[in-house]
Amino acid sequence: MAESAHRVILTSEQIQERIQEIAAQIEADYPEGPIYLVSILKGAFIFVADLARALRRPSIRIEFMAISSYGTAKTSSGQVKVTRDLDVNIEGHNVLIVEDIIDSGVTLSYLKRLLEARKPKSLEIVTLLDKPERRLQRVDVKYVGFQIPDEFVVGYGLDFAEDYRNLSDIRVLTP
Ligand code: IMP
Ligand code: MG
Repeated sequence: MAESAHRVILTSEQIQERIQEIAAQIEADYPEGPIYLVSILKGAFIFVADLARALRRPSIRIEFMAISSYGTAKTSSGQVKVTRDLDVNIEGHNVLIVEDIIDSGVTLSYLKRLLEARKPKSLEIVTLLDKPERRLQRVDVKYVGFQIPDEFVVGYGLDFAEDYRNLSDIRVLTP
């Protein structure tokens, strides 16, 4: 598929600018101590790399989890499973779940409950993208990069059937 077939909705510059703003907000909200960035593979891998570098303190701990939500390529089914768990104890720590996109909310509401049970000092969500129209489960998200309409997007970590993750901008996939 030719790249020109896809409409860019967020340029690399817009994304980077917004990440600086979110990082400044996070720095202000957590004036001291380590912050655990719990990034959800694979979609959030680029976002967490840029967000982590925008945060200035050395004690930014970068951790990964992988989740599978069985479904078709474009929708999650509501059945969420942890396929790779954290290998650190988050008890008593400030934790930010770092996600690429919140769509139905199924993945994040499951994950928030799961991690809450491990007794972090605080637990909040930062997502680059939010499709509020699609929400099936209510989730409190503290930091949102961009709200986008209900269109399937790729790039900057987000895939369609594992393709397009390497794009540095975000595009709507057009047939
Ligand atoms: P949720 O559980 O429905 O909120 O789904 C969130 C997950 O679905 C994300 O982590 C993505 O992996 C995937 N997803 C949802 N919308 C899109 C999209 O527009 N493009 C690519 N992946 C998406
Ligand atoms: Mg995906």
